[in-house]
Amino acid sequence: MGLKDRLEDERLHGTAANRAGVSHWRRRLLEEVNLDELALLGLAQRRARLEKVTGHIVGREGPVLSPGERAALIRRVVDEALGLGVLEPLLADETVTEIMVNGPDHVFVEREGRVQRVDTAFASEDQLYQTIDRIVAQVNRRVDESSPMVDARLPGGERVNVIIPPLSLVGPVLTIRRFPRSYTIEELAARASLDAPTGLLLAAFVRARLNLVISGGTGTGKTTMLNALSAFIPGHERIVTIEDSAELRLRQEHVVPLESRPPNIEDKGRITIRDLVRNALRMRPDRIIVGEVRGGETLDMLQAMNTGHEGSMVTVHANSTEDAVYRLQTLASMSDVKLPFDTIRDQIDSAVDVIVHLGRGPDGSRRIVEVAAVSTRRGERLRLEPIMTFESLPIGPDRVVRGEFRHRPLPAPLATRLFHAGEGVPPVFGVRADDGEGR
Ligand SMILES: Nc1ncnc2c1ncn2[C@@H]1O[C@H](COP(=O)(O)OP(=O)(O)OP(=O)(O)O)[C@@H](O)[C@H]1O
Ligand SMILES: [Mg+2]
Repeated sequence: MGLKDRLEDERLHGTAANRAGVSHWRRRLLEEVNLDELALLGLAQRRARLEKVTGHIVGREGPVLSPGERAALIRRVVDEALGLGVLEPLLADETVTEIMVNGPDHVFVEREGRVQRVDTAFASEDQLYQTIDRIVAQVNRRVDESSPMVDARLPGGERVNVIIPPLSLVGPVLTIRRFPRSYTIEELAARASLDAPTGLLLAAFVRARLNLVISGGTGTGKTTMLNALSAFIPGHERIVTIEDSAELRLRQEHVVPLESRPPNIEDKGRITIRDLVRNALRMRPDRIIVGEVRGGETLDMLQAMNTGHEGSMVTVHANSTEDAVYRLQTLASMSDVKLPFDTIRDQIDSAVDVIVHLGRGPDGSRRIVEVAAVSTRRGERLRLEPIMTFESLPIGPDRVVRGEFRHRPLPAPLATRLFHAGEGVPPVFGVRADDGEGR
């Protein structure tokens, strides 16, 4: 039974009038076409075949249309029959990084970091529900009143979130995040997301097996940065990656990607990030990479970082480097192992070496806004020392973010670790003369 049928009947009445048009032709098309035969064809051939059949049906039974109208109608009917209906052209558009549907009539996209409304709408709420149903059915999920929020994925890897009324007050809402393309650190530097010396320093950190935390708000480019930095992990190491939905694309040969699993319809079979972190520890990893820590697994990760899996990396949702420490502390305290807050802080102190914080400017640009070393002197509490900060100038009328990357000397203990690993410090940073009290 389709999603729409499971929802209240009265919701349907208001949209009945709109249901003619494209949906009618789609139904007629599906009656007429031989589905078994269609399944044998490739996508392009399938589309060509459907366009031909739709053309016949519309020509025979349809209204008189101009050639342009006719072509547009056929295209929409076939898009509908093949997949995501009006969203297909947006998905095909490489410059679109995010598609946001707020009810059938409001479709927005993000391009180059900017959100804009597009002139596309679903024929009806009914059609939007059908599209949603098709998406979530692919991952064996269901959306209805008892589970009104669902995460799913498209076959191409795009992440999809669905939330429907009564939780959403604007009708069914669909958010599609395009599978993020991967950038190299040089490409990120070319986009001014960091400068070249910072890129060299971060690469040295990764090769020297420092434990890194990448922090930032939603969509600030944490996963993208993690992916770029992972390129510096030497090829002979065994890497286990753990994510909610696999987005990382590591280039090394010896990589084991793991993905968590939501519960099934009977609410069984859930495998969390935490389960995977624990399992990963038994897989003899050299490094563990966690896409994002969100709960008790944070404590397991901190312990892994402290016990032989140096060089591990995680991302965490936070508003600043300081906030990242608090977030890690709070998340680690969600573990079933109850440790005092101070103890957790000590664990963070000895586990985490560097925090890379990302931000997103009002112009949509993403960049590293701070790199801070966790540097604690004996007898002191955890302290962060910024080694790179982006200082932005006041924003002018063009709303473009400008500013400069400022470098500061590395705390001596950090520099020593780099030297021991055979890595240098880019000269713009330098090393701070230190009393040797660091860890
Ligand atoms: N430096 C960058 N320059 C331009 N675009 C970027 C940059 N970093 C990331 N992006 C784009 O921004 C979007 C979000 O990136 P990403 O998924 O890495 O962010 P995130 O912080 O991991 O998001 P989330 O909080 O949802 O996990 C993607 O479309 C990605 O391609
Ligand atoms: Mg991410």
